[in-house]
Amino acid sequence: MCGIVGYIGAQPAVDILLDGLTNLEYRGYDSAGIAVNVDGQVELYKAEGKLQNLKDIVNAKKSHIEKSTIGIGHIRWATHGAPTTANAHPHSCNCGRVAIVHNGIIENYKELREKLEKQGCTFRSQTDTETVAHLVATKFAQTNDLTEAVRLATKELEGAYALCVIHQDVKNTLVATRRNAPLLVGIGEGEYYVASDVPAIISYTKKAMYLDDNQIVTLTPDSMKLIDSENNVLSQKIETLPWEPVALSKMGYKHFMLKEIHEQPDVVRNVLSGKLKAIDEPIKLNEVTLDKDKLKDLNRIQIVACGTSLHAAMIGKYIIEDFCGIAVDVEPSSEYIYRKTITDKNTLVIGVSQSGETADTITAVRQAKKQGSHILIVTNRPDSTMAREADSLVPVNAGIEVSVAATKSYMAQVISFYLLAIYMAEVKGVNNFTELKHELVVLPQKIEKVLAHKEDIQTCAKKFSSAKDFIFIARGINFPTALEGALKLKEISYINATGYTAGELKHGPIAMLDESMPVLSILMSGKVYDKILSNSEEAKARNARMIALTDSTDEKLNDLFESIIRVPEIDELLSPALAIVPLQLLAYYIAEFLGKDVDQPRNLAKSVTVE
Ligand code: F6R
Repeated sequence: MCGIVGYIGAQPAVDILLDGLTNLEYRGYDSAGIAVNVDGQVELYKAEGKLQNLKDIVNAKKSHIEKSTIGIGHIRWATHGAPTTANAHPHSCNCGRVAIVHNGIIENYKELREKLEKQGCTFRSQTDTETVAHLVATKFAQTNDLTEAVRLATKELEGAYALCVIHQDVKNTLVATRRNAPLLVGIGEGEYYVASDVPAIISYTKKAMYLDDNQIVTLTPDSMKLIDSENNVLSQKIETLPWEPVALSKMGYKHFMLKEIHEQPDVVRNVLSGKLKAIDEPIKLNEVTLDKDKLKDLNRIQIVACGTSLHAAMIGKYIIEDFCGIAVDVEPSSEYIYRKTITDKNTLVIGVSQSGETADTITAVRQAKKQGSHILIVTNRPDSTMAREADSLVPVNAGIEVSVAATKSYMAQVISFYLLAIYMAEVKGVNNFTELKHELVVLPQKIEKVLAHKEDIQTCAKKFSSAKDFIFIARGINFPTALEGALKLKEISYINATGYTAGELKHGPIAMLDESMPVLSILMSGKVYDKILSNSEEAKARNARMIALTDSTDEKLNDLFESIIRVPEIDELLSPALAIVPLQLLAYYIAEFLGKDVDQPRNLAKSVTVE
């Protein structure tokens, strides 16, 4: 979603701002802007569309703009007001002396706007953010102190925000604050950086301080002061960021998505490392602090997540119920938070999120925490807001994922659920996982085999790329694989794709089948293989174009299916971790063949920080 960069120091701010925004581009956005202070004047530059449009405007005046050694920048994913130049950040006040960038949503912006308009403020955009700019300007007029103006202004704000503010009259000062939206300060030599996410600044510094809710930081080139909302000075917790700039390189792949799909064998090895030491030893999950007796007493587990993470959670449900005999409910966070949920101290609530910043999931786990449940977070970002809500943490170690469509983080979540389910079962005294552990250890080699035959999937993708619709069918543990395969396809190719449990096909969806409809059957060996085969026959009888994804070598499948994507044989229980890889590749190659913007699909954001 939106991204923030700020800089104050001795270098031209513009290069750092544009570079930082480039490294946040992957999050998805629809307009961009920067504010700098050139020769004592705050200047705003904004453009709708791709960041390149802003770069073109800025580059035309580069020798002028680069005189500024202070600035703030933003990429916007529209929530209030269309993605136009006027609505792009930074926003300013009547006199143009304040410039402000904002992530999040100001929920009471309508009331604030009405009040400010009565006081004479003229609004130039439809955004909620502009109210903050006017509010800060009003408070500055009363106090002549930028930090105090921000502090007083934020007291009137409801909702979520990460804010970065500069003021023409307070040269060489940048003020930043947050509530329910991430923000960190990068620390250099005689310079500071501000960012809503690590990639924006990691190539400049690894020394950083994360802001907590309601903290306000005031930066000059050689000082940093941190206060709380009551003006108390706070001590600063400086840490070293565990990130490498190389993660932001495509490493020779055409797209980040393709690179990330190829990283999956190593992702599996990483996730297993240190947790699955030997197949005859119990799984170790050091960050799971849930008392072993309490774990044995659990009567219920609720898992909340969104999108791809929700699909990983559905696999989690299947295996936790199977291995541990504990009832598990899985629910989209956005539904969970708007109903009366029944949780208590014997309920474990698991939040699953790649980014750890998904607003609905954060709200859901906070809601459950209030009701006394132990909160376990499965996330790729142990530095995220959600991770900080956790009683227990399962860091999934996928490394930074740049492509908006999640692939390797899904793999890491799925493998983490296997480890968690086996861990819980072993604590409960169930100990028959030697074979499954062995399968987990050899899984990376099987994924490598699938990747080695990607040309076959590319051929299949080309063949079906003109389809307007796609159906994925599966049963049992691979139903979430069908949903995830369909989600990947629709996200990046914009083809209407739906996943169904194969048994449901004849209860309605079969009406849609004809010679134009591809039906992809996920046909992995195991207890539902024959059933899916029958469902595939039913679809074929309605003239659908049949594709199989299978680990079977049965030659008879050639008669039923127009295309067959084969994967190595695998235990049915672990098959979702292998079967998803060709579906990711299929979606990738179809989108690539159709010339779509694979890494930054339209309308999507990498982390969805609004409810
Ligand atoms: C799909 C995708 C989204 C996310 C969803 C939740 O490829 O990435 O569906 O899975 O927005 O995001 P996280 O996992 O960050 O909570």
